[in-house]
Amino acid sequence: MSLITWTKDQFATNVSKHDQEHQKIFQQVNALGDAVGSGDRSAVGRQLDTLITTVAQHFASEEANFARYNYPAAATHKAEHDKLVATCLDLQKKFHAGQAEVTGETAGFVVDWLTNHIPNIDKRYGPFLNERGVA
Ligand SMILES: [Fe+2]
Ligand SMILES: [Fe+2]
Repeated sequence: MSLITWTKDQFATNVSKHDQEHQKIFQQVNALGDAVGSGDRSAVGRQLDTLITTVAQHFASEEANFARYNYPAAATHKAEHDKLVATCLDLQKKFHAGQAEVTGETAGFVVDWLTNHIPNIDKRYGPFLNERGVA
């Protein structure tokens, strides 16, 4: 079952590298939802680890472009990333220690975060980077 679907209208930043990264994240969120639905805890753990790695790499990729082009909103944008990473690492640690479960609600939280962050925060760097030749 798809929890989140990438559409150009809703999610395109017009920076193709980051649009591709977002699509990969969406695939992995959907795979996490499927793993949760299957009830296979070790599959959930594997998918959680994969998703967190991909998200962290994507944040580093955006932040590298911010640094390279002196994006004025870099610090506030990075603060949003850091908050999510901290939440994810905490959950990951607790999950693998058997102190927390990943549920449909967890996947929903990630879906909500992406549905807010990409259109409202990520989309702002599109015109800025496009003007500097990053398409
Ligand atoms: Fe992003
Ligand atoms: Fe971002």
